[in-house]
Amino acid sequence: MEMDRTKPLFAEKCLAGRVAFVTGGGSGIGLGISHAIAAAGAKVVVASRKKEKIEAARDEIRATSGEAIAIQLDVRDYESVSQAVAQTVAEFGGLDVMIANAAGNFVAPSAEMSANAWRTVIDIDLNGTFHCCRAAYSALKASEHGGRIIAISTMRALEGWPGCAHAGAAKAGIMSLMRSLATEWGPDGIRCNTVAPGPIDGTEGVRRIYEEKGRLATEIASVPLGRLGQVSDIANAILYLAGPGGDYITGTDLVVDGGRDRKRVIVAQNAPTVA
Ligand code: HXC
Ligand code: NAP
Repeated sequence: MEMDRTKPLFAEKCLAGRVAFVTGGGSGIGLGISHAIAAAGAKVVVASRKKEKIEAARDEIRATSGEAIAIQLDVRDYESVSQAVAQTVAEFGGLDVMIANAAGNFVAPSAEMSANAWRTVIDIDLNGTFHCCRAAYSALKASEHGGRIIAISTMRALEGWPGCAHAGAAKAGIMSLMRSLATEWGPDGIRCNTVAPGPIDGTEGVRRIYEEKGRLATEIASVPLGRLGQVSDIANAILYLAGPGGDYITGTDLVVDGGRDRKRVIVAQNAPTVA
């Protein structure tokens, strides 16, 4: 039985008084996250390269969910990330939650992938995530709620990702980075985790990696719960980690994939399975 998505899962305004920064917050999963945390009372910064996209998201959030500003940046450029964090602190008075969601990916067999294609994805996903963490460190350390870094990864990274070796390596790197920072920055009160989505309905990721390649049905068949995830499934995981639910959680991955990764492990071990 499907759950009733109209029921609130968290206390109303559970993020009131917090400021959250969402890279790639103007589309797909990031846009859903931005809406959810604004509706929960956080002030939201929507940040990415395309001005028209983040301004449209900002206006949509202001009209329906809560408070938001848009800041243009390229996560590959440390200075632009650093300036965006400074602008956030100047306009909103601080920063409590950094959500490193921006990413680039495309299917490219490694034997045909150019060095620049490899570098581009590593630069956006892995270097971009480090830039966000590093630029936000001082502000997160000063957070009265305990700072949060939540990076979006995927368990595909840990199984090897044929056809997307660049993104697989970058996301595995992000998972390692969160574990390192959890230990280094725990004494500063900063919680560092990943949220690891499975395939999420209606997103650019699913369009590029599965739909365009005619692999969507196969992918859905590999999910024990028998469906794609919804953007709201990921937004709920973020609300949990960004708010009081995440107070004592650091250095781990919150896997939101309908059991896809568990099924992979069982198949790999050749253990009996019902599906
Ligand atoms: C092979 C490609 C390619 C493709 C780009 N390149 N697309 N190679 N197949 N489809 C190569 C280019 O030829 C170039 O190499 C190099 O990559 C850089 O390309 P640019 O177009 O100059 O890069 P840029 O303008 O910086 O754009 C970055 C991008 C783009 C990643 C290439 O697609 C983008 O902006 N993506 C953001 C949105 C996105 O990807 N969303 C999906 C996220 S899904 P040469 O050698 O020619 O110079 C995700 C996980 C999904 O992350 C998981 C599903 C379960
Ligand atoms: P998406 O809509 O394409 O989101 C990617 C966002 O990143 C875009 O808003 C893009 O905005 C931004 N971005 C890309 N390059 C950037 C850069 N250099 N600097 C700043 N911003 C940049 O795709 P999505 O499918 O929702 O993916 C969101 C996240 O979820 C990614 O981390 C992805 O790896 C992860 N994920 C997705 C799925 C899925 O099923 N979709 C599954 C697992 C993990 P601009 O173009 O304006 O810069």
